[in-house]
Amino acid sequence: MVTAVTVRVPAKVNVQLAVGGRRPDGFHDLANVFLAVGLYDEVTAAPADGLTVTAQGRDVEGIPLDRTNLAARAAIALAELHGIEPDVHLHIAKDIPVAGGMAGGSADGAGALLACDALWGLDTPTPQLLRIAGELGSDVPFPLLGGAALGVGRGERLTALEVSGTFHWVFALADGGLSTPEVYRECDRLRRAGGSGDLAGEVAEPAADPALVAALAAGDPHALARVLVNDLQDAALSLRPALADTIAAGRGAGALAGIVSGSGPTVAFLAADEAGAVKIADALGTSARVAAAPAPGATVLP
Ligand code: C5P
Repeated sequence: MVTAVTVRVPAKVNVQLAVGGRRPDGFHDLANVFLAVGLYDEVTAAPADGLTVTAQGRDVEGIPLDRTNLAARAAIALAELHGIEPDVHLHIAKDIPVAGGMAGGSADGAGALLACDALWGLDTPTPQLLRIAGELGSDVPFPLLGGAALGVGRGERLTALEVSGTFHWVFALADGGLSTPEVYRECDRLRRAGGSGDLAGEVAEPAADPALVAALAAGDPHALARVLVNDLQDAALSLRPALADTIAAGRGAGALAGIVSGSGPTVAFLAADEAGAVKIADALGTSARVAAAPAPGATVLP
């Protein structure tokens, strides 16, 4: 009899986020290169009558504890697939920044899928878990895999990428999150204002950068730093101009590159090595976190 299952699940940074034009369904086609980093949430699934969610950790007042929480939605979707009731208590121990552009909510969805699957003894095949994850949100499949992967479509269709060595990152956490839909809307607005148009067909098809894929495979932070790119960065900076100062501060402290993580407002700095990362974090102060990549995907803890 299983009493409770805890799954550890990683955050991500987008080392390339190429955003195509807005599609008729409102989403954007992406070439999204995810890298899992060693900041983790833990999702515990325990037997219960009905579905409840609790959370603890930094900024958890910002996350919903009802059925709109991605972890709850994951439990419901998995139960539906198997024709059972989503009877589970989900507890989320948060260490990934909330609404920070590091896919913390998506990580919790992925963690809940795996934790409920184990608690309920379902043994759902991974391709099915990945499919449900993709329906829950564009960023939910990746934390199941971890490592590095290219996401196309909305970002949910994944191909694993080779990554070697260890990349040392520093994440500068901002006060208050940014809304992902709002950042995409601002990206569209800036494209229209720039005269290029914002629709699919008006914007270049997003594609993975071969130099970036090679830098990951080679484990070369200097090469990776030269090609880091986030098409949402201008939109995040437009909504949160102070992020430019954060980027400058990290660069000044020796970062090889600084980039807004996903839709922000977390800023990710790539360091040459571990000592460099610690130095950058010290210069940025208490809001900075050091983390190594690649991190493994969602894992059931013993
Ligand atoms: O898929 P997810 O629920 O994470 O997406 C959140 C929002 O981000 C969407 O409602 C949409 O506004 C925007 N988005 C997008 N194109 C993508 C992924 C997300 O426009 N490929």
